[in-house]
Amino acid sequence: MQPKPRKQLDRPNFYGVFGLTANPLRLVFMMGAVWRLAQNLATDKVQILEIGSWCGASALAWGEAIQLYFGGNGKISCVDAWQPYVDLEVDADDNNRRMDAALRNDEPFDIFRQNIQFLPATVEIEILRGWSQDILPALPDAHYDLVYIDGDHTYAGVLSDINNSTGLLRDGGILCGDDLEMQAHQCDLSVLDAQPNVDRYYDQHLDAHYHPGVTKAVAETFGAVSAWSGFWAMEKSGQGWDRVSLKGMPPRIPGHIPAQSLLGLKALLMENDML
Ligand SMILES: C[S@@+](CC[C@H](N)C(=O)[O-])C[C@H]1O[C@@H](n2cnc3c(N)ncnc32)[C@H](O)[C@@H]1O
Repeated sequence: MQPKPRKQLDRPNFYGVFGLTANPLRLVFMMGAVWRLAQNLATDKVQILEIGSWCGASALAWGEAIQLYFGGNGKISCVDAWQPYVDLEVDADDNNRRMDAALRNDEPFDIFRQNIQFLPATVEIEILRGWSQDILPALPDAHYDLVYIDGDHTYAGVLSDINNSTGLLRDGGILCGDDLEMQAHQCDLSVLDAQPNVDRYYDQHLDAHYHPGVTKAVAETFGAVSAWSGFWAMEKSGQGWDRVSLKGMPPRIPGHIPAQSLLGLKALLMENDML
């Protein structure tokens, strides 16, 4: 039997489990980081490396920012294994189970390829399918203007991605990532040591969910970092790192935010005096 022709969508598919895994407010700050690069860097073609792409929500935000701040002149290299990666023995929450089942059917990779068709026409995309710990060491040194880490959220995974990324960044480039809801100085350090392999953790005392692996790996590498609603970023400066300022950043809402998230996002921007 011939395979059914794929239905051509008129907008990207971020429904259900394929949807935005992160708080959409973070996408606004991610676009702000590209705005910051455009203020600082004398480059006409911006190079972004993304570790962890899922169905393309973050890649589309990078693409829209490249269109806005670099006139569409840029490339996004997406590293993702699109293979089951969460240890369900450690982390069996509903979301992880649904993501794991989707990955076993190879659906997220299919949807990612459909969704990236909505990138601006001039923005280049490179798909590097595989585990970041295998792919990153083979990428060119001092080549990328921004590296975004949103793959394996265990302590060992985040630390390996940070360590393998620092040499790939140009001086003045931005190293950033997702899921830093809590910095080490804001939480119980014994939890960070006790839960290194957990993806997401609920802390009863704080009544908050966060990712202890991200918190621990980021704190050990940089200390306190600049962060906005879980998106963190640091700027490479010679052998060291500076915090990033997004003061004055235009609050752009990416066009692919699904309608069901849009009202909440506008309310958050108003609460933060950004609209
Ligand atoms: C939280 S999702 C990324 C979400 C995406 N950045 C977005 O905003 O839509 C994490 C992704 O990282 C990938 N991943 C996890 N561990 C990885 C690893 N070690 N190497 C490459 N990809 C990995 C998973 O396949 C998954 O697609």
